[in-house]
Amino acid sequence: MPVNPIHGVTKDEIVPNLKALGIGEGDSVLVHSSLSSFGYVVGGADTVIDALLDATGPEGTVLVPTLTGRREDGPNNPPVFDVRNTPCWTGRIPTQFMKRPGARRSLHPTHSVCGIGAIAAALIEGHERSLTPCGAQSPYYRLAQKGGFILLIGVGQASNTTIHTAEELAEVPYHMQKEPVNTIVIDYEGKRRVERLYLHDWGTPRRFERIDEELLHLGIMRIGKVGASTLRLISSLPMIEFLVEKLRKEPRYLCR
Ligand SMILES: CC(C)(COP(=O)(O)OP(=O)(O)OC[C@H]1O[C@@H](n2cnc3c(N)ncnc32)[C@H](O)[C@@H]1OP(=O)(O)O)[C@@H](O)C(=O)NCCC(=O)NCCS
Repeated sequence: MPVNPIHGVTKDEIVPNLKALGIGEGDSVLVHSSLSSFGYVVGGADTVIDALLDATGPEGTVLVPTLTGRREDGPNNPPVFDVRNTPCWTGRIPTQFMKRPGARRSLHPTHSVCGIGAIAAALIEGHERSLTPCGAQSPYYRLAQKGGFILLIGVGQASNTTIHTAEELAEVPYHMQKEPVNTIVIDYEGKRRVERLYLHDWGTPRRFERIDEELLHLGIMRIGKVGASTLRLISSLPMIEFLVEKLRKEPRYLCR
């Protein structure tokens, strides 16, 4: 659908394009985003959030990554995460999303996600007890098991956190720190807890972009446009299954 070049992108233009891409009412979608990729959006991040909530409807669920992990996190530098106010580094849309009424953020000290919708609470519950950040007990994998999608708005596969889920399930040798870390998590009631968890090792450069063509070719991903932004809609479970199989045969498939 064309975008008015003078007035910018509106919700009425985003919603039908999300639907045309394959998002329907009742769907669950994890959204990685760049607001500026659209060009000018009337109403900014809130317009995009409204469009995502509209497209998925009251029975649907929207998740955004609200990541806080840093390269230096480790036993000598344990992360301290306060779910109420630790800022994320994943952009304006997740930052605004966290302020929405009913938005609930998971308690993971490095890889929290924030959700609104029918199954948001079930997806994020207990993330802080997931032994690895994106593993079998994380919202990333649970979303996949529920038939959910990953939506990349104006960003590439390098932003696709769920690729780490495949790395964690396949137990690739380079991805996790060898020892668990006593992380500090401060919950919604202000209670401070110690969560002993395995954290990512940031040392190995990846080439996640290499899966882009394959996902398209396999019919696991569809591509669309809204304004100046390219959108990628990926079926999460088929992507994970494809990657786990690849990584079991070739553990360094995603490494540079
Ligand atoms: C880093 C990243 C967020 C930067 O994208 P971005 O579009 O430059 O930034 P945001 O999405 O935060 O949007 C804010 C920008 O949008 C622009 N903007 C502001 N209002 C706007 C509007 N109404 N319409 C369109 N763009 C607008 C501005 O350039 C603003 O930047 P500024 O705050 O420096 O002025 C993005 O590239 C990215 O990586 N996103 C994915 C993150 C992720 O999920 N990572 C997972 C890693 S495993």
